[in-house]
Amino acid sequence: MDNRQKLIINGGRRLEGELSVHGAKNSALPLLSAAVLAHGETVLHNCPCLTDVDAACRILSKLGCRCQRSGSTVTVDAANVTGFEIPDTLMREMRSSIVFLGAVLGRTGHCRLSFPGGCELGARPIDLHLSALEQMGAEILEEHGYLDCTATGGLHGAKITLSFPSVGATENILLAAVTAKGYTEIHNAAREPEIVDLTEFLVKCGAKIRGAGESVIFIEGTPRLEPCEHSVIPDRIVAGTYLCAAAITHGEIILTHCDPAHMNGFIPVLESMGARVYTYGGGKIYLSCKKRLSAPPTVRTMPYPGFPTDIQAPFTALCSTAEGTSVFVETIFENRFRHVSELVRLGASVKTEGRVCVVQGVKTLSGAKVCAAELRGGAALIVAALAAEGTSEITGLEYIDRGYESPETALRSVGADIKRA
Ligand code: EPZ
Repeated sequence: MDNRQKLIINGGRRLEGELSVHGAKNSALPLLSAAVLAHGETVLHNCPCLTDVDAACRILSKLGCRCQRSGSTVTVDAANVTGFEIPDTLMREMRSSIVFLGAVLGRTGHCRLSFPGGCELGARPIDLHLSALEQMGAEILEEHGYLDCTATGGLHGAKITLSFPSVGATENILLAAVTAKGYTEIHNAAREPEIVDLTEFLVKCGAKIRGAGESVIFIEGTPRLEPCEHSVIPDRIVAGTYLCAAAITHGEIILTHCDPAHMNGFIPVLESMGARVYTYGGGKIYLSCKKRLSAPPTVRTMPYPGFPTDIQAPFTALCSTAEGTSVFVETIFENRFRHVSELVRLGASVKTEGRVCVVQGVKTLSGAKVCAAELRGGAALIVAALAAEGTSEITGLEYIDRGYESPETALRSVGADIKRA
């Protein structure tokens, strides 16, 4: 990705029209990992065209799988998995490559990968992943920044309690448990829709899983999984980001191909701010926002089904022009306000103190040159720039392209004056 690229936005235009939401990045990644477990050709539809998905496909190729994309369908032939190493360059490019650990270990009995260092959001430890896999019989050697995991004799089931409902740890345990010997229970499991999507895929491949979406998940190991065809769920964070974009421009938008049931953590907040939101069948959401929004007093990010941490940054942008003051408490990650300094350059009045961010609504923002430092913070800058008077330039698109398919094309289709240069 050429990181000299920038988005040029002339703000102040209402967004109006219909926008289709692409497949969920945070479901496609664990699904691509799960394909390693299926002895044959997996077909994934509605797979988003994102750089993180490309990176996952490159990892699959390194493992000996044949990975092909045609449009939004990705096929993965994992008949012969010959490798078990995830290259350091790919681990550094995408720390969520850790989600390959459970599947590669389950399929080959071995996995070697470099420690996924911290990222823009903070330390991003993987202690919960590793201690769970050790309880299932994996031997994990950490040396020189590498993890060498082996499960000679295969993995066995275990009763695992997570001290935090970690999404990634829940996914890795599921991927290790489906072909382990015996029963596994995951207590305090993550309940995200992406966990349910992964489980539905694995069950179609022959796995025996009960309770996905709840806090306790039961898995009975089966010796072998066969490939299947599956469609990735819609991306609830992308959908929420575009609702924020429509709301901040006092526009009127219909999102299609989304799943409103996955968005109950934040749609009520939009309604409490004064936006009119109607969700109706067939995966559609309607939002209109004719007047200045009022600020939600407190927004606290929580594990699903609470307010998602991934939508916090776009929401702080939306609240920057609302009437009143909002207090955001980021309970999931220790460093997720990197976008705030850039919002201030756009004229917002925002202060942070540790995990708390106070947003005092201002009447108008004004265009400026700003830079994204991470994925969702970059999305927040787009939301703010769409409302800012004058021209804004946003760099750091290599972060935004990880999670949003061609945002300039999507937003231009509903009336934004935006282009990529
Ligand atoms: C997933 O990350 C998502 N990424 C994140 O989305 C999302 O923000 C996060 O879940 C929470 O919803 C993918 O699905 C690829 P966690 P993950 O394990 O699995 C701590 C985006 O913008 N923790 O639930 O890494 C951790 O430090 C990305 O799309 C441990 O302490 O999230 C964090 O504070 C960003 N030890 C908290 O749990 C562990 O072993 C949540 O982490 C694992 C996690």
